[in-house]
Amino acid sequence: MTETSSNGVVAYDVEGGIAWVRFNRPEKRNAMSPTLNRDMMEVLHALEFRDDVGVLVLSGEGTAWSAGMDLKEYFRETEAGGLGAVRQAQRESYGWWRRLRWYQKPTIAMVNGWCFGGGYGPLFACDLAFAADDAQFGLSEINWGILPGGGATKVAVELASFRNAMYHALMGENIDGRTAAEWGLVNEAHPLDRLKARVTDVANVLLKKNPVALKATKDAIRRVSIMSYDDAEDYLVRAQEAANSFDKEGRQEGIRQFIDEKSYKPGLGAYDKDRTRA
Ligand code: ACO
Repeated sequence: MTETSSNGVVAYDVEGGIAWVRFNRPEKRNAMSPTLNRDMMEVLHALEFRDDVGVLVLSGEGTAWSAGMDLKEYFRETEAGGLGAVRQAQRESYGWWRRLRWYQKPTIAMVNGWCFGGGYGPLFACDLAFAADDAQFGLSEINWGILPGGGATKVAVELASFRNAMYHALMGENIDGRTAAEWGLVNEAHPLDRLKARVTDVANVLLKKNPVALKATKDAIRRVSIMSYDDAEDYLVRAQEAANSFDKEGRQEGIRQFIDEKSYKPGLGAYDKDRTRA
């Protein structure tokens, strides 16, 4: 059953371990208003530690994933309220993107349509991303006279090559989902009518993995990129030891099912995490 946030601008369903969360302002192409930013934080908060949620998917109602920040409500109206209002609006948007970047559960952006500017924040915040072939991605900031802020520049440089990021940001031209996959903005692109099936398959694979290991792994991938090799080596030892304190048995069970029971091969799939030592 579909539920909605306090102001109705975020919708979600939880089904088979997957939380399908949607930007829900299709008539405004899911532009992120302060209200939407607050509602999204509320929904992320409500879902994060639910036992029936193992993976969160973020998509958009209608033709857009998100047309970026709401130029009227996020920029013009908050600027009219002065610096305090601007800073509050920034905290609220950056706040839920940050929450999503370090979310307890694996997250997938399912980019069904338009994805502009500020939309790159939640795009990067999601651990994996799958787009419709015909989805359109753009750093349109330059087209209305600003630089790609709110992390969008950082996202472009993190995910794309220097040349592609520079061209994308300076030219204000859109790329489609297939090109976004070539550039590394998303993992894969698929025809829109097959997108949800592919995302469901990926989510179902994740649901079978050890959830403590998933959280440790997704954080590690984000953290190590700016570390030296030695720092990363040390961090990863400590991250695994910290993970062990949340889940003492998982890895021993994984070894047991392979070495003693011979019921699976780690090189070919995951151990059965729902079974523990008989
Ligand atoms: N901010 C505020 N309102 C928006 C936004 C936005 N980012 N995007 C769309 N809307 C509104 C439109 O003003 C319009 O409102 P109205 O019905 O009250 O007139 C409604 O959504 C529908 O938009 P259309 O432009 O009619 O939709 P269309 O499907 O023809 O075009 C498109 C879609 C290409 C996404 C277009 O709306 C657009 O260019 N939006 C702005 C994209 C953008 O540059 N976003 C900002 C990026 S920069 C940043 O995020 C910091």
